[in-house]
Amino acid sequence: MPKKIRDKVKDLLNSKEENASVIVKGWVRTKRDSKGGFSFLEINDGSCLAGFQVVADHTLPSYQAVASQLHTGSCVAVTGKLVASQGKGQQWEVHSSEIELYGSADAEKYPLQKKRHSFEFLREIAHLRPRTNTLGAVMRVRNRLSHSIHNFFQDRGFLYLNTPVITASDCEGAGEMFQVTTLDMDRLPLNNGKTDYSQDFFGKRTGLTVSGQLEGEIYAMALSDVYTFGPTFRAENSNTSRHLAEFWMVEPEMAFYDLDDDMDLAEQFLKFLMKDVMENCQQDMEFFNQRIDKTILQTLTDIVECEFERIHYSDAIHLLEKSGESFVYSVEWGCNLQSEHERYLSEKVFKKPVIIYNYPEEIKPFYMKLNEDKETVRAMDVLLPKLGEIIGGSQREDDLDKLTARMKEKEMDPEEYWWYLDLRRYGSAPHSGFGLGFERLVQFVTGMENIRDVIPFPRTPKHAEF
Ligand code: 4AD
Ligand code: MG
Repeated sequence: MPKKIRDKVKDLLNSKEENASVIVKGWVRTKRDSKGGFSFLEINDGSCLAGFQVVADHTLPSYQAVASQLHTGSCVAVTGKLVASQGKGQQWEVHSSEIELYGSADAEKYPLQKKRHSFEFLREIAHLRPRTNTLGAVMRVRNRLSHSIHNFFQDRGFLYLNTPVITASDCEGAGEMFQVTTLDMDRLPLNNGKTDYSQDFFGKRTGLTVSGQLEGEIYAMALSDVYTFGPTFRAENSNTSRHLAEFWMVEPEMAFYDLDDDMDLAEQFLKFLMKDVMENCQQDMEFFNQRIDKTILQTLTDIVECEFERIHYSDAIHLLEKSGESFVYSVEWGCNLQSEHERYLSEKVFKKPVIIYNYPEEIKPFYMKLNEDKETVRAMDVLLPKLGEIIGGSQREDDLDKLTARMKEKEMDPEEYWWYLDLRRYGSAPHSGFGLGFERLVQFVTGMENIRDVIPFPRTPKHAEF
């Protein structure tokens, strides 16, 4: 099987074998012609940030055969000898003896030219943008993060659980579900003037999941510690740099954990992931530190070493009220914290991650455990500087009567959630969990400004191309 540039570089560093013959396959990033009858080709195959410099002698017959088609974007296989490079920027280069062209790319039409393109423009060519340095680095870091998410939980004995994508239950109760139907939208079957969902595919109204939590709880109440990691869909019309309509969420759910345990796990989890990515994606992380956010490595290092601040919602409100800042959204006890409030607390007051807990009952979903004060619930949000909320979690209500009462208050039909209530009817137990927005994590770790640039194919209002 063909070896990729990443592995060749590793081999080289180990062997330092000059004049070894190599074959390098990849896409031409740049081509520079020298007066001395040579071309310098920068070849990249995406396996790592660095490419290989290939020196091609214009007198080579195989070079002459393809010379007119060798441009940025074309794909080649180069056979040659490895030589210590005289030039700056690379240790080794390949002096080619043969060049084979796999696929040419029209120099006039290829959209990815050598110059820097804006991220907005790159989103319009989402099929080609992974060939850029930045998107390539993002995707390698994203891959590493998903790998280490599994490592973190697997090492702690958590079971990986696949929860359904199509569901009838709106976990967050925020009315943001995309509907899934096979009914003919132009001729809906009616019953008393309303759509008759009994004729729909599943015989009832269904949608795409907004969270795998409720199903996660079912398995935690049998297998103790589980986690889901899957796609999540929210039809919220927020055109911000932190919202997607389709994103990936990691949701651990743990039997016998209280809210403190939940916060401990969330803190350990974030630190583990940040440390791991710095250790295992060094080259890409250096790149982000140089090109995207010059403080990112220091920020991550500080977070790994610090102790997260933990404060009550009421104390957070108090701090915001006496801050003297002029926020766009005013602050009073009972309000939802906006991103500007979250950032003020984590960036200006504490200058590190903050976990806010014990939120007002009224602004949080039905499933969170009511505190003795009956006004607050055992909810917690983890806020990061610059980003705001990255994790939301809670201890779950395990008392059948209290849960049923809260559902009714929120105008939910307990009968529709009979199976969820059964978990409280039969062997109920304290349990907790949280959800981490995977793209927000990738965004934070890479320092990227916009969440649309850390997922291969972003889905946002009016955008579902590719
Ligand atoms: O705070 P949320 O809504 O929590 C839940 O869904 C719980 N059921 C999780 C649980 O306890 N198992 O969402 C969790 C996280 C947020 O903190 C945020 O990072 C991310 O999911 N998130 C989004 N990420 C991108 N785009 C969106 N539209 C997001 N909405 C939430
Ligand atoms: Mg939340």
